[in-house]
Amino acid sequence: MSSPVHRGRRLRRTPGLRALSRETRLAPEQLVAPLFVCLGERVREPIPSMPGHARLSPDLAAREAAELAELGVGSVILFGIPSEKNAEGTGAWDPNGPVPQAIRRIKAGTPALNVWADVCLCEYTDHGHCGVLRGDEVDNDATLPLLARASVACARAGADVIAPSDMMDGRVAAIRAALDDSGFEQTVIVSYAVKYASAFYGPFRDAAGSTPQFGDRRSYQMDPPNVREAIREALADVGEGADMVMVKPGLPYLDVIRAVRERVDVPVAAYQVSGEFAMLHAAAERGWIDLPRAMMETSIALRRAGADILITYFARELATTLGGATATAVLAETLR
Ligand code: PBG
Repeated sequence: MSSPVHRGRRLRRTPGLRALSRETRLAPEQLVAPLFVCLGERVREPIPSMPGHARLSPDLAAREAAELAELGVGSVILFGIPSEKNAEGTGAWDPNGPVPQAIRRIKAGTPALNVWADVCLCEYTDHGHCGVLRGDEVDNDATLPLLARASVACARAGADVIAPSDMMDGRVAAIRAALDDSGFEQTVIVSYAVKYASAFYGPFRDAAGSTPQFGDRRSYQMDPPNVREAIREALADVGEGADMVMVKPGLPYLDVIRAVRERVDVPVAAYQVSGEFAMLHAAAERGWIDLPRAMMETSIALRRAGADILITYFARELATTLGGATATAVLAETLR
């Protein structure tokens, strides 16, 4: 009996050989940690459907950001929970709103950390839609100047990156023009170019109180069966001046991440959303999956699909695990 020519197991034999032949790696500086910020001082309100996450006042958000930076996490992305909402979502450009306050505190304490501001109206409108209404419809063009105002307010507070998540057409161009007009030509735009009307945003909407009061978001967020449309959206946003593009959610759309990666030359981010996070936690709580391993496996899947950057509620745990591996120089089974 001759021995097999191909012995795939040779490179799987030891942790060292597995690390040596690993094709995809994940580094903490590629991680973006979402933070929910509210008004006040020393406020920490845990979010039940998102274990380990809480609504934080700007002082505690700044402390959290400093700890994340210490662990090597490259960026945070901020979502605002205002105390009042109205039809136009005017709180979105209040310079003393929770997000601008948190940006100033974070940049003062941890200037090297990239601070992203999510820009959308849904947290600030009383009807919960991502733009202003005309009748029962979200009025695209009337929403653009409002998104631009919100973006300038965040840039003025010191945001490095503006990340519009509303899915209005033409918003990247409108935001780019407004930023440039106000002297923020260096502020980066990451567009949520490919954002699907997904069932996986549930816990986020609880956390941010942004569930639409009527209807749904299907007239502006994308239809889940479509992938060619994702390419059109990504190319349109790059054409309007987006410096990076995002695909969201993550795990149900790995093919979309790959397709977008192959068609644009800007960095691609993937957002592992609140429902994906909650789902893994819920199964782990029942003892059905091993959470640390599932966290690593799903995160590396997004990287393998082609995402350069991961927005993930696991950012702290991932950075802790990855950092620990470097310290012991074992590389072990951490996929770094
Ligand atoms: C705001 C926004 C949403 C998310 C990010 N930005 C909610 C939505 O579109 O309903 C979802 C993030 C998550 O679920 O983790 N438009």
